Amino acid sequence: MNFHPDTLPNLHDKVFIVTGGNSGIGYYTAAHLAKHGANVYIGSRSTEKGTAAITEIKKMHPSANVHLLKMNLMDLNSVLSAAEHFIALGIALHGLVNNAGIIVTPFEITKDGYEAQWQTNYLAHWLLTDCLLPIMIQTAKKLPTGSVRIVNLSSSGHLGAPKGGINLDDPSLRESGSWK
Ligand SMILES: NC(=O)c1ccc[n+]([C@@H]2O[C@H](COP(=O)([O-])OP(=O)(O)OC[C@H]3O[C@@H](n4cnc5c(N)ncnc54)[C@H](OP(=O)(O)O)[C@@H]3O)[C@@H](O)[C@H]2O)c1
Repeated sequence: MNFHPDTLPNLHDKVFIVTGGNSGIGYYTAAHLAKHGANVYIGSRSTEKGTAAITEIKKMHPSANVHLLKMNLMDLNSVLSAAEHFIALGIALHGLVNNAGIIVTPFEITKDGYEAQWQTNYLAHWLLTDCLLPIMIQTAKKLPTGSVRIVNLSSSGHLGAPKGGINLDDPSLRESGSWK
């Protein structure tokens, strides 16, 4: 692979949201985007963890333009609130990095009635994307093709998906096991 984050261009006029930006790949992504001048919104379910990540990034890059976008993907109302908060800022959105994820967690149904991994990894990100799409389309209209992007973090784990696709007889995934 040839890509290295140091090769990122100047991103001073660009705005990004990175879900799960308080740790792991999301934190690394947010830090590098900020290092290159982007205005970055770190999606985090924890004010404490999100603020700590922002503090760390600002320690490394004092001029970093990084903010917290509080959002718990296990709570669809929280996702809606985060999207509404961002939309109310009235700014452009060039990149949405749907990064947050959980894997092989104990069986759990969210307050919205969905299996936890299904909601965190897919449904909540779909909702977030759907809410933010109008801003992204508006942003894209003023720029050259390819300037606005949605990045969905995935996994080679998809190779182990059930051969028949989603088992619609078990929408709660209760019988499908943690890996599905
Ligand atoms: N690392 C790998 O080798 C690998 C391989 C294949 C795919 N991936 C995918 O890459 C993405 C990032 O992986 P990673 O290794 O960086 O994961 P990670 O270190 O476990 O970080 C996951 C991030 O998602 C956040 N998150 C989880 N549930 C959330 C919720 N309900 N609401 C808001 N945020 C939530 C976590 O926040 P908290 O700190 O609050 O828990 C954390 O910031 C994931 O989608 C993962 O499936 C990673």
